[in-house]
Amino acid sequence: MTTDTRSMTATRQGNQAGLPERFNLLAQLLHWTMAAAILAMLFIGVAMMTSLTWRPRMLDLHQPLGIAILLLVIVRLVNRLRHGAPALPADLPRWQVMAATASHWLLYGLMFSLPLLGWGVRSAGGWPVTMLAGVTLPPIAPVDPVWYAVLRDAHGLLAWLLFAVVLMHLSAALMHAWVRRDGVFSSMTPAGLHRRYRGNPGSD
Ligand code: HEM
Ligand code: HEM
Repeated sequence: MTTDTRSMTATRQGNQAGLPERFNLLAQLLHWTMAAAILAMLFIGVAMMTSLTWRPRMLDLHQPLGIAILLLVIVRLVNRLRHGAPALPADLPRWQVMAATASHWLLYGLMFSLPLLGWGVRSAGGWPVTMLAGVTLPPIAPVDPVWYAVLRDAHGLLAWLLFAVVLMHLSAALMHAWVRRDGVFSSMTPAGLHRRYRGNPGSD
């Protein structure tokens, strides 16, 4: 196999299957904005639980940012279901394709359920969910100590699961970018960013 042929087979197969080579701009914008917001949320959540001094200020930030994530993931899901995703490289082992698909849907599930659970924790505790400018959201769970305990545990556990899946996702993304150099990483970045690699289709 020549270098050219090898790099072609290892490159993302989007065009050949009639699928896009990259996620559309909205998907890319939402992916990177939400990645920053979610990482911030994980740290804000931990700060909230470990410092009584910081807790009120962190909670004021945690709630509107979490609800923003809930709204953005709905836009993201609609965009994803309407426009699909680029195909993965044809030579990617089957287990990796399955792991990527499963972990992406798990990430969507967590981005959706975590804010709802957080909202539920506040509701079950009898507290309002306060947005910026003092706007409050209606409760979504009954005020009840058992509900509160269950939702609180579920929110904490799923937050840690999200952290673990994000770490695996990050490792896989960097493996594609630096080791396989197969176009998977660049499918989540604007085309212009990779102009300097033109002429070498296997680069990422
Ligand atoms: C993607 C969105 C979210 C992420 C990643 C996230 C993450 C976290 C984390 C890491 C903690 C600390 C958990 C622990 O150490 O046990 C936490 C606690 C908490 N979160 Fe969230 N959260 C999100 C959304 C929300 C939303 C939307 C609300 C409310 C509207 C909320 C309300 C809370 C509350 C009240 C706690 C403290 C619970 C307690 O006192 O034990 N969260 N969150
Ligand atoms: C909180 C952090 C993150 C979350 C929740 C997240 C979530 C996701 C999801 C759900 C997808 C699948 C998109 C789809 O099929 O519609 C995706 C794809 C992708 N993400 Fe992330 N991501 C995060 C952070 C990162 C980071 C830090 C990187 C890189 C360093 C990264 C690189 C990528 C790449 C390259 C893809 C495309 C993979 C593919 O098509 O198979 N992500 N991400």
